[in-house]
Amino acid sequence: MNLISIVDVKDKLDNIFELSAKLKNEAKRGIFNPELKNKTLAMIFEKASTRTRVSFEVAMTQLGGHAIYLAPRDTQLQRGESIKDTAITLSKYVDGIMIRAYRHENVLELGKYSTVPVINGLTDLEHPCQVISDLFTIKEHKGFDARLAYVGDGNNVCNSLILGCAMTGMTLSVGCPEGYTPDKKIVETAAEFSDKITIHNNAVDAVKAADIVYTDVWISMGQDAEKEKRIEVFKEFQVNSTLLENANNPLIMHCLPAKRGFEITDEILDSENSIVFEQAENRLYVQKALLCMLL
Ligand code: CP
Ligand code: NVA
Repeated sequence: MNLISIVDVKDKLDNIFELSAKLKNEAKRGIFNPELKNKTLAMIFEKASTRTRVSFEVAMTQLGGHAIYLAPRDTQLQRGESIKDTAITLSKYVDGIMIRAYRHENVLELGKYSTVPVINGLTDLEHPCQVISDLFTIKEHKGFDARLAYVGDGNNVCNSLILGCAMTGMTLSVGCPEGYTPDKKIVETAAEFSDKITIHNNAVDAVKAADIVYTDVWISMGQDAEKEKRIEVFKEFQVNSTLLENANNPLIMHCLPAKRGFEITDEILDSENSIVFEQAENRLYVQKALLCMLL
């Protein structure tokens, strides 16, 4: 089984949350069971990463297995070996492949030819591991009756959040500038599961009565050439104290890395309501659960 879109684990979310909670509780008590002894995860990173790389690698170590970091420039992928041949070969050695890539289609291609599970560690379209973990964090703090608002770019994180909220029945209100709204197909898929997802073109409408406000960078990896334009387009979408007066004293979420002073102010990111570093911590436990389930 692959985890390429968050929809791939639609029927398994409850099990994942349950196992994540168990693994978190055990880790806090210093208990680490070698569930993945002798198992190896290959990790291909076309883009930079701090949280995803380290949490997956630590997860494999704590589960008694091993992770191999592969930068495409160090593999034959960079010299033009096909994704298909890479998938078939890696499947002979390892028990799972995690990949962070630019093109979502490339991850689907890897999943098609790999005989071991393929896990999406972020593409330009989705960031499922992030959002599964974020839903776990939301469940711990408020439960799925809370009203979530996402403000900013309708990007990979936003797309997975839309699907994740639709799958859990959460009310989600998205605020993005025109031309930067989430993927149309994803919004249509979400609408098949839920009628509680709304998309707005301004931030104030999106955060109205929200219990949780989530944001992400305005300039995602690979978009540096659009930097000046994006800063101009998104300036009304900053999560700051004035915007949050419209919300319900909300918890603050951000997948990180944050560009402080752009999509979010220091004041809000460092506020008592901010749970961003718990979000980051939970990546470890939730990925352990995903690895146990998939590998
Ligand atoms: N949130 C997240 O995926 O962070 P990294 O880019 O550091 O992995
Ligand atoms: N939207 C961001 C998420 C980083 C985890 C990016 O793609 O760069």
